[in-house]
Formats: sequence, structure tokens, C-alpha cells
Amino acid sequence: MREQALQIREKAYAPYSDFPVGAVVQTPSGETFAGCNVENVAYPEGTCAEAGAIAAMVAAGAREIVAVYVVAGSDSPVPPCGGCRQKLAEFAKGPVRVTMATVSGVETEVLLSELLPGAFGAEHMS
Ligand code: THU
Repeated sequence: MREQALQIREKAYAPYSDFPVGAVVQTPSGETFAGCNVENVAYPEGTCAEAGAIAAMVAAGAREIVAVYVVAGSDSPVPPCGGCRQKLAEFAKGPVRVTMATVSGVETEVLLSELLPGAFGAEHMS
């Protein structure tokens, strides 16, 4: 996953932040899907790397995430933003391992449930 995330990070379109990010999501079958951030001159319209990876997964017909790998060029590993935590939670059917990494090789691993405790879910709508 690291290799894929590093590769797609090279494709990121981040002219405004100059902060390219690569993300990979893994499904229960072991398949992986990658995405990069795509910024926009209308700043809020930009999308995160995680959103791209999720879109690729769904477009391929998969619906469950078991692991995520995110890599950026920062000094310390970058955690997914709040919105992406919720987007990832949409496809979490069990524990999801989130690995945050730097290009230089520092890695931190947490569970998505630690990043988004008390997540809003479909069960809250009944
Ligand atoms: N970004 C991601 O793509 N994923 C993250 O986990 C953190 C932030 C992007 C959004 C924006 O294009 C740039 O990083 C700076 O915030």
C-alpha cells in the first residue's frame, strides 16, 4: 500500500497548498484503490486523496474498507481530515486500520474508530 500511495502522491494536483497527498484503501479481498488530492482555485471544491481512493473503490464495485494508508511530505504523519473520516466510516463494516505515513518513512497506525469516535451512522436514523 505504501508503494501505491507514494506513486499516486506524485500525481496529486496541489498547486495551492503545495501539499501533495496519496491515499490507498484496501477491501476485504485485499484489492487496493488509490487516490490523490485534487485542488481547485475555488478552494473548498478541492478533494482529498482519501476521497479519490474511495471513489475509485466504489467505481470498481467494492463497498468495504478494511485498511487505509495515507502519505504526505510533512515532518510527521498527517491524519485524515474530519470529512474524510466520515467518508471512510461509510464503508467501514468492522475495524479499519489507518496508517498515516511520511514520505521519509515515519508511520503511525490507529483505528478509524479512534479517529472518529461516536460516528454518525445509519443506525442513528431509526
Ligand atoms: N489532504 C488530503 O488529501 N488528505 C489528508 O488526509 C489531509 C489533507 C489535502 C487537502 C489539501 O489539498 C491539502 O492536503 C492541504 O490541506
